[in-house]
Amino acid sequence: MNILENEEIEIQNEYIKKLKEIINGQKYYILTMGCTLNENDSEKISGMLEEIGYQKVEEMQEANLIVFNTCCIRENAEDKMYGKLGEAKKVKEKNNAIIALCGCMMQQKHIIEKLNKSYPFVDIIFGTHTLHKLPEDLYKLIITKNKVRDVIDIDGEIYEGIPIKRTSNKKALVTIMYGCNNFCTYCIVPYVRGRERSRKAEDILNEIEGLAKEGYKEITLLGQNVNSYKGSGYKEIYNFADLLRAVNEIDGIEIINFISPHPKDFTDDVIDVIKDCKKISRILHLPLQSGSSKILKLMNRKYTKEQFINLAKKIKQKVPDVVFSTDIIVGFPGETEEDFEDTLDVIRTVNFEQVFMFIYSKRVGTPAAKMENQIDEKIKHERFERLKELVEKQLEENNKKYIGTTQDILVEGVSKNNKNTLTGRTKTNKIVVLDADNSYIGKIVKVKIVSEHMWYLKGEMV
Ligand code: 5AD
Ligand code: SF4
Repeated sequence: MNILENEEIEIQNEYIKKLKEIINGQKYYILTMGCTLNENDSEKISGMLEEIGYQKVEEMQEANLIVFNTCCIRENAEDKMYGKLGEAKKVKEKNNAIIALCGCMMQQKHIIEKLNKSYPFVDIIFGTHTLHKLPEDLYKLIITKNKVRDVIDIDGEIYEGIPIKRTSNKKALVTIMYGCNNFCTYCIVPYVRGRERSRKAEDILNEIEGLAKEGYKEITLLGQNVNSYKGSGYKEIYNFADLLRAVNEIDGIEIINFISPHPKDFTDDVIDVIKDCKKISRILHLPLQSGSSKILKLMNRKYTKEQFINLAKKIKQKVPDVVFSTDIIVGFPGETEEDFEDTLDVIRTVNFEQVFMFIYSKRVGTPAAKMENQIDEKIKHERFERLKELVEKQLEENNKKYIGTTQDILVEGVSKNNKNTLTGRTKTNKIVVLDADNSYIGKIVKVKIVSEHMWYLKGEMV
């Protein structure tokens, strides 16, 4: 962090002190939409608010401050936000609650215009580049009673030292880079998150060492495109492979995940690190998006169907115990039946362990939104159902392979549906339910898998 960013955090700490005197025992509610990067941002928002003296509540109705951390990756994420805003308005009328909106959606001009025009009851709007200024925004609103609009569209700096309130005490999210330079033609992210900026390796390692000392066992390194991470040479860390090796050295951390890498940047040195470092998760996320080389070109993904299949083969050859997960978009403009068949073909060939499926959603300002040959909604949905059917069939087949095997499981807690059982995950991210007492929570245990149930496996301690 540079001197200027340091000063900025000092300024915010002053606002936190001032607010502490005003906010006494008030309650906040936060709703996080979208991806894990947003979840990590929300942990920082919670950190700042709890430092001020706010207490978190799970019911919006009880809150004096309502925060929505928004997502704009697909239209349904935006629709959800407007629906929730109606609910928030009622709470405002009842409790005189403050409503604050932030996150990716707020980085779009047409959204701000719509909010100002049709939702004038929103008190604070702040963007992804001004998240650290929430204490200042809140203070200004409370003192002046004027609405606060704090969004900038230049790339934000990287601010270290923002208080953080993590949702788990075993698994932690650690952002290593911000923004994206890839401009996939369907994607809004580069427009709302700005260009790629990497955190300093020393800041990342310090954070993870601190987490290990606090007892965290699992970390997930986050970025829109983690494998284009750039280090400045601290402890010889220049790229993502170097960073992974350094994280693997940290005592106490037992599981390392990272999301998301881009297949075009999945270099051999990263594959070698995965092979050498047993702490790295054995499920790798390789977002395919489409199996058709024609569509991939239109998407600006910079790899072909064959290159993707070869990459998966190469990784599997070098690290045989690895499995893959992926993201698929169906119904991208111009996608023919033949293109869609190509996607199904790659799904069969690579045999992904987990597939996140999305229907293409037009995003204002992206090149794909202006493309001709937009696909009919009915066809999109039909293709989505066909894809889902294949994926579920494969999931069942893959689950069967686990029966009889012994797996190392990090026990996460009590099952939601049955308070007498615990849940955890395998190194390939499969949910495992087991009968054991609560003293095992937070520990890594050996479990024999006895049956499969589509979305989870059942295991017994050995
Ligand atoms: N429509 C549908 N899915 C999208 N994604 C990104 N943009 C869109 C869009 N416009 C999906 C991609 C990405 C995941 C996070 O969201 O599959 O990998
Ligand atoms: Fe979006 Fe592509 Fe960047 Fe991922 S790599 S955030 S899909 S533009």
